[in-house]
Amino acid sequence: MKGVILAGGLGTRLSPLTKITNKHLLPIYNKPMIYYPIEALIKAGITDIMVVTGGNHAGDFLRLMGNGKEFGLKHINYTYQEGEGGIADALSLAEYFAEGEPICVVLGDNIIEKNIIKAVKDFGGQKKGAKILLKEVPDPERFGVAEIVNGRLANIVEKPRQPKSNLAVIGIYLYDSRVFDIVKTLKPSDRGELEITDVNNAYVREGTMTWEMLQGWWTDAGTFESLLRANVLVAQTGANNG
Ligand code: G1P
Repeated sequence: MKGVILAGGLGTRLSPLTKITNKHLLPIYNKPMIYYPIEALIKAGITDIMVVTGGNHAGDFLRLMGNGKEFGLKHINYTYQEGEGGIADALSLAEYFAEGEPICVVLGDNIIEKNIIKAVKDFGGQKKGAKILLKEVPDPERFGVAEIVNGRLANIVEKPRQPKSNLAVIGIYLYDSRVFDIVKTLKPSDRGELEITDVNNAYVREGTMTWEMLQGWWTDAGTFESLLRANVLVAQTGANNG
């Protein structure tokens, strides 16, 4: 399985912090944000990694991480997203890198307390489809929200005004190689982006989407509140433990 980290975008919700750098290079306690998804993948046994970046500061990723030696990697792959096409558009840039293998996609501003190796292994035993991880949150309207009916995942709604559950879809996704064909069928949402939730719902409709609850805390870091929260959580307990 290969790993894809999505670290593009203009990070406008964090302006002016993102005026002169990329969101994913901002500090979370004692490391740049991008270190956490890289370490999450490595701890799950995934060492063939591509970083998709974009915006005005893409060269700084190379200056920071080089060929990945600091992480014990032989190599890191990079690619560049032009424009602001959304998460699913950024993902489409990894098609040539994936070479038909299943992938684990991590949003570059998602940070987790514990190891996801179990979910990765479970997905390895799944013949086709996708897997998502869910976490109970107090503010589901900020996220993709899962609707579970009789233990089955019925639907995912992106940032619902009236969420049907408190289960957020976290930004770590496992996909089979058909994900790139699914992205090609998507239409832009009201915010003008290709939505990862639309990718996930294609698998839900097909009946091949599985899900697990995430153990330990999870946070994103794309707003001032969540950036502060991420710093405090990492300072208190560390990330990617176990
Ligand atoms: C994105 C996804 C959303 C997901 C979230 C996790 O939201 O669209 O479904 O729950 O990441 O961090 P965004 O941060 O782009 O608003």
